[in-house]
Amino acid sequence: MARITLDDDRAKASASEAHYRRLETGDMIYFPRTPFVLTAEEHAVLLASKQDGSFHKNISYRPAEDRLRGVDPKDRAEWERVHRALRAYSERAIAFMASFLPRYAQEWKVDFASFRPIEEAGRKVALRSRNDLIHIDNFPSRPSHGDRLLRIFTNINPDRPRIWVTSENFEQLAWRYAGKARLPHPPTWIDALRSKAARLLATLGLPVVDRPPYDQFMLRFHHYLKESEAFQRDCPKDRWEFPPDSTWIVFTDTTSHSCISGQYALEQTFIVRRESLVFPDKAPIAILERMSGFPLGAPRSKSA
Ligand SMILES: [Fe+2]
Repeated sequence: MARITLDDDRAKASASEAHYRRLETGDMIYFPRTPFVLTAEEHAVLLASKQDGSFHKNISYRPAEDRLRGVDPKDRAEWERVHRALRAYSERAIAFMASFLPRYAQEWKVDFASFRPIEEAGRKVALRSRNDLIHIDNFPSRPSHGDRLLRIFTNINPDRPRIWVTSENFEQLAWRYAGKARLPHPPTWIDALRSKAARLLATLGLPVVDRPPYDQFMLRFHHYLKESEAFQRDCPKDRWEFPPDSTWIVFTDTTSHSCISGQYALEQTFIVRRESLVFPDKAPIAILERMSGFPLGAPRSKSA
């Protein structure tokens, strides 16, 4: 896995074909200086923000609904300040990504943004929620159906770097470990029935997710990697420092990653359609289809 460093001037132009290829196969694109502006006031609001009393992993913002979660709504002034600052980050990150990666922007789905105000080193969370264990991403509540998870991160810590450790990319990991995590099987009538029931329950407002075989596998693989002590101990590792005011872009469903320390990072996620990729054959779903020997993609609408 490699980190491609781009300076301010390069950030003003669109990514080259080589950049798209490198991103899609697991490398990171790194800007030592964030290529868009966050004001001093926005920094100050986010660094001083207080999470609400219940435990939240992050403060989240959903651009499609302009919805903020993770800040106590009873403290209206604080809620509004954080809402404005996180919305500003989300808008500027989306605008930058649309100009830097226009190929994806035509059909991507803009997902959540988040602010991560908790120190990552030594956090006490359930094993499957730990960020310090190497994993690939899959969202339990939002199956991607084979589309790709692209994320842009920004470290706004005034003094300290954010530290990541990465290992091999999805294709390398899949050939070694996917069998142990149980490869997807061809859909059966039971799967069809389960999917129908999940969709029906979801229409009734119940929090049930219709997760297709691809997303079932990716979630299993996420858990397998985090739960395997041997993998965590023995896998090849690279350590990366992201200093204050740096930004980086990664397909986190391909780049295995962990965050071992750091506090105060911002992030915006995009779901990139399979059809927009330069290398659709390198998408995890295509790799799994070759390994398992049958198609995993289900037809989906443009808004899915
Ligand atoms: Fe992750």
